[in-house]
Amino acid sequence: MAAALRIGVAGLGTVGTSVISMLAAKGSELERQCGRPIIPVAVSARTRNRDRGVDLSNVEWVSDPVELACSEDIDVFVELIGGEDGPALAAVKAALEAGKHVVTANKALLSKHGVELAAIAEKNGLLLNYEAAVAGGIPVIKTLREALAGNQVNRVFGILNGTCNYILTRMEAEGISFQDCLADAQRLGYAEADPTFDIEGHDTAHKLSILTSLAFGCEISADDIYMEGISNITPADIKAAANLGYRIKLLGVAQRTDTGIEQRVHPTMVPTASVIAQVHGVTNAVAIETDMLGELLLSGPGAGGDATASAVIGDLADIAKSRPGFQHGPVFGRPASELAPYKRARMRSHEGGYFIRLTVHDRIGVFASIANRMAENEISLESIVQHGDAAEIKTVIMVTHETTEQAVRSAVDGITGDGLLADKPQVIRIERAA
Ligand SMILES: NC(=O)c1ccc[n+]([C@@H]2O[C@H](COP(=O)([O-])OP(=O)(O)OC[C@H]3O[C@@H](n4cnc5c(N)ncnc54)[C@H](OP(=O)(O)O)[C@@H]3O)[C@@H](O)[C@H]2O)c1
Repeated sequence: MAAALRIGVAGLGTVGTSVISMLAAKGSELERQCGRPIIPVAVSARTRNRDRGVDLSNVEWVSDPVELACSEDIDVFVELIGGEDGPALAAVKAALEAGKHVVTANKALLSKHGVELAAIAEKNGLLLNYEAAVAGGIPVIKTLREALAGNQVNRVFGILNGTCNYILTRMEAEGISFQDCLADAQRLGYAEADPTFDIEGHDTAHKLSILTSLAFGCEISADDIYMEGISNITPADIKAAANLGYRIKLLGVAQRTDTGIEQRVHPTMVPTASVIAQVHGVTNAVAIETDMLGELLLSGPGAGGDATASAVIGDLADIAKSRPGFQHGPVFGRPASELAPYKRARMRSHEGGYFIRLTVHDRIGVFASIANRMAENEISLESIVQHGDAAEIKTVIMVTHETTEQAVRSAVDGITGDGLLADKPQVIRIERAA
């Protein structure tokens, strides 16, 4: 039997405690699978004397995660602290420089420093594994990096934030407002006290930036992601979408285009019959469209202690099974030095269908003016419907054929400038999905 793989775990919160308890529960099965035991020998967290519901009697306590990362007693440093800089970054860097493999669940860290950390890992012949960082328990990193070798990925998109999907699912099922759903999600522990990071799309953007690098062999560039959150979505939008055969999801989408790679996070209408439209509640899903495969969809739990620990343990098992001297594959699918600079496709060039909902003053000629603005911008309409019994205010709902973002923005700006609107216009992009 080979020597045990000795791990140091920094961060004993939701994920860290699940990793410790799952390693204890699954120890003998993992040992059979990997040919050696995986043993936590040391841990680090902020508060030492807290009962965390896991047995830490046989592990060393190290207050400083950087000291733990460099410890002679560990082979692998597991970073489960979180945060894009601070102790997580310092400790991961220190571990890689000290010759330790690293496993992390930290999308914020990788989104900002992934390429730099990958370069250190590769230079030192180490693994930097991060399956848990995107879509929790769903094995999407390995799928993109290993299972789809040789495929050309043309588009990757997904429901990457459980809080947003939970809110949109309940808004649709119960016809209630965004604010009421959010309050409920906070009460049930599905949303943070400060939910901005989730509902405005930042969390989705971090995860998308990592998927983009893997899918397209480019550097990570989270700052270049176009982002809109879900706080402007109303029950009226959801109802109108349903009437037209669509469901609204917050998607992160990365797509190869003629001018570069689009990266965008925004509420999206997907056909109700598509597989991704059936992903409800806190569940996550990632669709990958390739030349050889068509569209593949992976779905499952995107968060939660045990689901995330499953991905962390899978990463540890890979390290336990790797042989000394074995050349590990590159962290983002190709060597960090060979990742292409990210070439951004401008959002204004985005092509697709659009849903446009306008609340208009009911005056003579309004309909004709709207139609003129559409024609002027060469937008052809798949449908246009007018609703509203109230005398002065009507709702106009349009679905466009394929057009450009530039054309839609220009048409909507024109309509707004014409003084026809009684409320802010709503524009939601439509996404193809199998
Ligand atoms: N929760 C999920 O479902 C989930 C899913 C996917 C990925 N992730 C990622 O997994 C990571 C951990 O998330 P989590 O939910 O487990 O976080 P968490 O519950 O907030 O736990 C964070 C842990 O880090 C410790 N910590 C904070 N600052 C520290 C420092 N300076 N030195 C040592 N330890 C420190 C905390 O110590 P104390 O306990 O003493 O305060 C705590 O144990 C994050 O990167 C997150 O994005 C989480």
